[in-house]
Amino acid sequence: MANILVTGGAGYIGSHTCVELLNAGHDVVVLDNLSNSSVESLNRVQELTHKSLTFVEGDIRDGKTLDQLFGLYQIDAVIHFAGLKAVGESQQIPLTYFDHNIAGSISLVQAMQRAEVFKLVFSSSATVYDEANSSPLNESMPTGMPSNNYGYTKLIVEQLLEKTSQADVRWSIALLRYFNPVGAHKSGRIGEDPQGIPNNLMPYVTQVAVGRRDKLSIYGNDYDTVDGTGVRDYIHVVDLANAHLCALNNRLEQHGCRAWNIGTGNGSSVLEVKDAFEKVNAVAVAFEFAPRREGDVATSFADNARAVAELGWKPQYQLEDMLADSWNWQKQNPIGYKS
Ligand code: NAD
Ligand code: WQD
Repeated sequence: MANILVTGGAGYIGSHTCVELLNAGHDVVVLDNLSNSSVESLNRVQELTHKSLTFVEGDIRDGKTLDQLFGLYQIDAVIHFAGLKAVGESQQIPLTYFDHNIAGSISLVQAMQRAEVFKLVFSSSATVYDEANSSPLNESMPTGMPSNNYGYTKLIVEQLLEKTSQADVRWSIALLRYFNPVGAHKSGRIGEDPQGIPNNLMPYVTQVAVGRRDKLSIYGNDYDTVDGTGVRDYIHVVDLANAHLCALNNRLEQHGCRAWNIGTGNGSSVLEVKDAFEKVNAVAVAFEFAPRREGDVATSFADNARAVAELGWKPQYQLEDMLADSWNWQKQNPIGYKS
């Protein structure tokens, strides 16, 4: 059992990963500045697992906080979720994104080096792949220049981690390229709680269903896909959380830097998701077709064979589970953690 630092652990994916880490018997220290989350998620993580974790409120860009943290707790490995993730916002305030996501990651890695902690799992994204690749996307395909600044920060951090590991063989780094995380813990006690108008499909759908928004705008119905709407690889957040535990085990044994896709390998269109959501949950989702959203691709789904073979990871949940669990969370928490 290990002592794991989870940066951004109060957030959507981080909180679900904390549950799985605690359930597996690990000790957990969370560092989060709460800029996009609340401590209530961590209270609920502890309530669900009947275990306690250590919470440090602070910023990954603050080297002193990091040094104190590494000095106080005997950290064995770091799972690094902290960062900003709104694609549209990243176009308006690029420097803020570069600061949190790139400078923040450098600050963390420097502190890890000072503390001689060399095991790291990083939240990357399928957005790093070159748009010219066709799905299923595999890890040997070239990365490209992402169409937005958020994606750019993920690509840069992947590259700087790769170069860091090449320069010092003590590093052991996992780059997990997430596809589209959705769903929530079965209990409905923790889930995705976006501030303001959701950017992503699933929280928008659940907020329409619960009456917080009028209707879903489906961005484009003239793509070259099964029904003209965009196709994505939705992955249950609990499967995604477990991928971090598998990656951690792999990195505790192996050196170097390696990327893995974390997706189911199945693509679903926006209309398929909306229709299945209505059917599984017996609730209506009003919608309209709207113009394509800038920067969107028609189709993106994973080849997950490398993760399955090398990490011993396998997704357990189907789309129907994801939709039922997203709705269960939203119904129980109509205004998120504030309710
Ligand atoms: P989230 O916003 O719910 O969680 C991120 C957490 O990091 C939040 O709790 C926030 O308060 C914290 N944070 C932000 N900046 C910080 C800083 N400078 N110092 C300390 N804490 C900071 O987001 P999430 O959906 O859980 O995403 C987690 C990670 O996964 C992010 O790096 C994101 O870019 C990446 N990712 C997410 C998706 C997705 O669709 N959700 C897809 C691919 C990759
Ligand atoms: C999915 C599909 C939309 C909202 C983004 C980031 C990526 C990663 C995950 C996170 C697309 C359509 C959406 C809506 C719609 N980032 N859609 N109406 O764009 O695949 O990926 O989130 O940290 O980097 O780019 O996910 O959920 O926004 O969209 O029709 O109101 O749903 O056009 O086809 P995307 P998404």
